[in-house]
Amino acid sequence: MAESTSSVQVPDPYRLELVTSDGSRSEAVDNVLQAVALGFHLAQPSDAELERYAAYVAGQQLWTIRQPDPDPEFPGLPVATMATYSSTINTGHGHLEPATFITDVTVRASHRRRGLLRTLMTNALTRSKDEGLAFAALTATEGSIYGRFGYGISTRSQSVEIVADGRFKLNHTPQGTVSMADPLAIDDLRLAVFSEFHRAHRGSHNREPWHVDFSSGRWNPQMGGPNRRIRSIVHYNDDGEPDGVVSYEIDKDFGSRITVRDMVATTADAEVALWEFLASIDLIETITAPKVDPATALPWAVEDPRVVKFTRHTDLGWLRILDVDKAMAVRGWDHQGSVTFHVVDPMGYAEGTWRVDVEAPGAPAAVTKVDDSTDAATLDVAALGSLYFGMGRGFSLAAAHRVTGTDEQIAAVDRMFSTVDVAHNISEF
Ligand SMILES: CC(C)(COP(=O)(O)OP(=O)(O)OC[C@H]1O[C@@H](n2cnc3c(N)ncnc32)[C@H](O)[C@@H]1OP(=O)(O)O)[C@@H](O)C(=O)NCCC(=O)NCCS
Repeated sequence: MAESTSSVQVPDPYRLELVTSDGSRSEAVDNVLQAVALGFHLAQPSDAELERYAAYVAGQQLWTIRQPDPDPEFPGLPVATMATYSSTINTGHGHLEPATFITDVTVRASHRRRGLLRTLMTNALTRSKDEGLAFAALTATEGSIYGRFGYGISTRSQSVEIVADGRFKLNHTPQGTVSMADPLAIDDLRLAVFSEFHRAHRGSHNREPWHVDFSSGRWNPQMGGPNRRIRSIVHYNDDGEPDGVVSYEIDKDFGSRITVRDMVATTADAEVALWEFLASIDLIETITAPKVDPATALPWAVEDPRVVKFTRHTDLGWLRILDVDKAMAVRGWDHQGSVTFHVVDPMGYAEGTWRVDVEAPGAPAAVTKVDDSTDAATLDVAALGSLYFGMGRGFSLAAAHRVTGTDEQIAAVDRMFSTVDVAHNISEF
């Protein structure tokens, strides 16, 4: 279904249109995926991919921009796309807060730099703010795009390369047991373990249904079909409850290289035991894995720490604070004290000065909007997004001139926003 809408200024001669999916294919939804494929340089989607897409985006808002009909380039296709939907983010201490998730952002190459992304983003943020959401989130293909819209890097991902040729030995025996599982037969288990992970980890972003299809090998978007190389291993704790699951593939028949596609572990013992099992598989020499816990116990749990090499640190989640009162009120605070900060927001959603008082670690914050910014540190709204899960430190942002103020004001920002736990997000979207 497609409907015209004009809540935001759209550059002439374009028009903004909302497309929705009831889960089954329609021409309008097919056209959105065709446009997304064009923007992301993907192969032309097959019928099977168009069917999957319609199912995956059911319930999402598919925002599109069109040029006047007939489009001389690709009749029927939008020139720009952005999908939005509501899901949850863990803000610390187990609280899951609804947020706008933004994905499938594309502008056709022949319509770039005419303000179409800005139009789509302004539309999405204004609607989210009007709906009372505390923030919006996304993952990015390029680091240079979203800072100007007030997004700050809020969670990071690190990759590892593990030597698995016999040198991998743990210095302790983790609790629990490990067993292999039919990857297509454990959907509920995957969902249950992720749900537990999501509640336990500050910075975790909730997942859409396609994640289970990807982890099980039922559907791989890069392959445009099933991934028959996927294997899965489950870790059970001493009570027999599943608390970790990994999906991996081996590079080729009789291959020696494992690539982890997804690992969800709710405890360090589950994570370490899963690594040990992977490293113990015969013929395997190397394991590579993305999105490893920034605070992983792995290098401390092996006899030779050089078998674990961290290979890539990159941004994963980007957070755009829209409602400072709400965002601060639902945050899990780990330190007693007060901080006053003035937020600079060129888009206007979060401009102002706030004082946050926390009576005791773990207590909810009292959040007050204040008129006087004399005692306040000053920071841009993207910096606030980076501080929010404790990933960006106040002192580092101050050294980069992103937080300014007296030494005491900066120290208060650093201390109050720092967290005892380390944010851990494993979900791309
Ligand atoms: C990235 C993309 C969506 C930008 O769309 P666009 O319509 O050209 O962007 P706009 O014209 O609205 O530009 C808005 C601002 O962002 C800047 N900008 C846009 N794309 C940029 C990029 N890739 N790198 C740096 N700056 C960028 C523009 O210069 C402009 O800056 P200004 O407002 O300060 O003048 C588009 O180039 C695209 O589809 N790229 C391929 C797919 C992709 O990477 N999508 C992002 C997925 S996360």
